[in-house]
Amino acid sequence: MYESFFIETYGCQMNVADSELISGMLIKEGLKPSDDIENADIIFVNTCAIREHAEDKVHSRLGFYNKLKKDKPEIIIGVLGCMAQNLKDSILQNKTYVDIVLGPDSYRKIIDLIQNRKKEKLRSIDTNLSRYEVYSDILPSRNKGINAWIPIMRGCDKFCTFCIVPFTRGRERSRSLDSILNEVIDAVDSGYKEITLLGQNVNSYKFENIEFHDLLESIAKIKDLKRIRYTSPHPQDMSEEVINVMNDYENICNYVHLPLQSGSNRILERMNRTYSRERFIDLYFSIKEKLKNVGVSTDIIVGFPGESDQDFQDTISLMQEVKFDSAFTFKYSSRPGTKAANYNDNIDEVEKQVRLQKVIDLQKIHSMYNNRKIIGNIESVLIEKESKKSELKWTGRTESNKWVAFDKKYSHVGDIVNVKINQTSGISLQGDIVTSQEMEIA
Ligand code: SAH
Ligand code: SF4
Ligand code: F3S
Repeated sequence: MYESFFIETYGCQMNVADSELISGMLIKEGLKPSDDIENADIIFVNTCAIREHAEDKVHSRLGFYNKLKKDKPEIIIGVLGCMAQNLKDSILQNKTYVDIVLGPDSYRKIIDLIQNRKKEKLRSIDTNLSRYEVYSDILPSRNKGINAWIPIMRGCDKFCTFCIVPFTRGRERSRSLDSILNEVIDAVDSGYKEITLLGQNVNSYKFENIEFHDLLESIAKIKDLKRIRYTSPHPQDMSEEVINVMNDYENICNYVHLPLQSGSNRILERMNRTYSRERFIDLYFSIKEKLKNVGVSTDIIVGFPGESDQDFQDTISLMQEVKFDSAFTFKYSSRPGTKAANYNDNIDEVEKQVRLQKVIDLQKIHSMYNNRKIIGNIESVLIEKESKKSELKWTGRTESNKWVAFDKKYSHVGDIVNVKINQTSGISLQGDIVTSQEMEIA
């Protein structure tokens, strides 16, 4: 009998949202989510293929599932998501204990495949990509917390030369305005305080004549929705209208994740990023100028094929010019099937590591610098959870996406409170709740 399932999720927030969708489908069919992998009848792993390291993690987890299956041969093991799409043949050939392989556009098949497996012990695979699938009619079973993930588009047509996503997730397509609005209203009614709109290229959203800024505006008008975030926008599609709408509505958080990748025009072109260093810098400063107290983070890749010392210095000098609040930094990882995988001027691993460390160290200095600048400010903070360091403290994020810890003082998870920032230690902030009376005096 198959009664319970366990889903383990790797990769980006799109995968987190997809796992919630899949849980929704399974629960609707009467299966129960389990929090104990060793006792679940069905184990799914939702995978990521963005870098080799991401795939390695999944391979090692699969080894563990294999052991579980040796003790309980009747359990079902399924590999879902981007790696399933990317490595279907090798999974089927080399991992005979995997029963189900499903790509990101095939999740509707999941119930049928479980039934098949029950009846005939067949292994099943579906990795067809769709030009239309957006799963609009399926209700996700959301993880508990304060934030609801709302996918608004799927796929990517940008084809950056390093990136596997256009191959694993297929062509770009957007959900209807109505289905998105309904889902947001439902999330607000269920008590979620914050929503994050998701897409690999969230700001190239287009449904009929509705563009991303129109969507943002419609969502911002939803009653009782306290906080709106979105990720990841592409610099090319970051229009002035988007920035204006962010400025017009208080419940859209003043925070932008603006992935740079490289500060060298030569490398940006080779990456097919479609913007120049100068355009990025202009965009950065126009965001800073128009949005009060805005936080800006980024993604940076070091060691892209052919990246010379000078190219790398261009990345460093751009970082120095703008000083991001935070950055996700990566060593280039060659992805078979992408254009850059055929470039033959790869950078030595040791050199990549040296460059990565330089970028990490510099970013730390910039994060601390920006944190120090907001000491003394009163920031609006949405309380998310207890601080790991003290059970007397909460932690939450400012609108600009900075984590702050502060004494609990009669407040609760999910409250939005005013916090005076008192000090920084490393890259984290500490503060104190300011009551409304104290606010009036201030
Ligand atoms: N759609 C988003 C990024 C999605 S992937 C965008 O366009 O910005 C998240 C990040 O992973 C990318 O921004 C990039 O910095 C990094 N990344 C993607 N492919 C990579 C690769 N082959 N090697 C190293 N980092 C990579
Ligand atoms: Fe990948 Fe580029 Fe698409 Fe982002 S925009 S998902 S980096 S191809
Ligand atoms: Fe990974 Fe796929 Fe997301 S490759 S980053 S899970 S879109």
